[in-house]
Amino acid sequence: MILDGAPQKRGNFLNLVVGLGVSLLLAACSLANPPKDSAKKPELDVPYEPTSHGIAKEMLNLAGVTSQDLVYDLGCGDGRIVILAAKERGARGVGVDLDPERIRESKKNAKAAGVNHLVQFFEQNLFETDIRQATVVMLYLYPEVNLRLRPKLLRELRPGTRIVSHSHTMGDWEDDETRRVEGHDLHFFVVPANMTGTWRWQEPGGAPVSLALSQKFQRLKGSLTIGAETYPIRDGSLRGESIFFRVERPLQGQRQVFSYEGRLSGNTIQGKITADESGQGANRWEATRDPSTIVSIAE
Ligand SMILES: C[S@@+](CC[C@H](N)C(=O)[O-])C[C@H]1O[C@@H](n2cnc3c(N)ncnc32)[C@H](O)[C@@H]1O
Repeated sequence: MILDGAPQKRGNFLNLVVGLGVSLLLAACSLANPPKDSAKKPELDVPYEPTSHGIAKEMLNLAGVTSQDLVYDLGCGDGRIVILAAKERGARGVGVDLDPERIRESKKNAKAAGVNHLVQFFEQNLFETDIRQATVVMLYLYPEVNLRLRPKLLRELRPGTRIVSHSHTMGDWEDDETRRVEGHDLHFFVVPANMTGTWRWQEPGGAPVSLALSQKFQRLKGSLTIGAETYPIRDGSLRGESIFFRVERPLQGQRQVFSYEGRLSGNTIQGKITADESGQGANRWEATRDPSTIVSIAE
């Protein structure tokens, strides 16, 4: 009994020490090699929440998507918006999402919808995605994420590119249209060209004209100088590369409002000037800009 008792106690103690050692070793190993799933969880700027089918359809309508378009969905979830654009409009599409599970679903869904030849999906951070080729951009993010993305949208997208943001605005970049669908607001934006700077041309009579423009998104301010007279511009606005503003100036002893419309190409604007009241006297104008006077509109 006595002899039996001592080795048993020693054995218990040894078991305890070995057991503790093994547990510590296992704990250390699991810290060094965390389970694969938790190691791969991406840090999302916005959690996953799919757009309903009805809203996705209306987003395509609002952007006027056609088979000529290349539609990007930044944070594409299960790919439903670009897949719908491909299926219903024949548009090409690119979806990016940081979550690999979403990208797997998107690829599976594209295959099931038979639009593999039109769409591509990439596991990628939307802030690092090259979006320069997009003609339409779809977003369902957060307001603050839209704001962080805004300079990139304005810098990289070509003028005239359409953006639809599900639910969220773009801060002080006012939308060009709002549409309410299923209790959600959809915000539509057209990327404005940069019209800032000093533009010059000659009136038909020979007087030199200069137009000084500053710009906040699609709103324009500035003044028009004809000969020695300077007039402020009114209602200055842009839609992509199309410009519009009014100027009130005296003509034959009366104040007259003139509407200026034009289209930008490089550093040239070509368009027409009409005298509002009479609707007569449409003149052409062709202005050129000194490129050194351009100011960035992306911030
Ligand atoms: C609200 S869901 C919208 C999904 C889809 N666009 C739709 O409307 O059905 C936002 C998506 O953005 C993805 N996401 C969040 N942060 C991201 C980032 N930095 N880069 C790429 N994707 C991101 C999420 O994984 C999620 O799938």
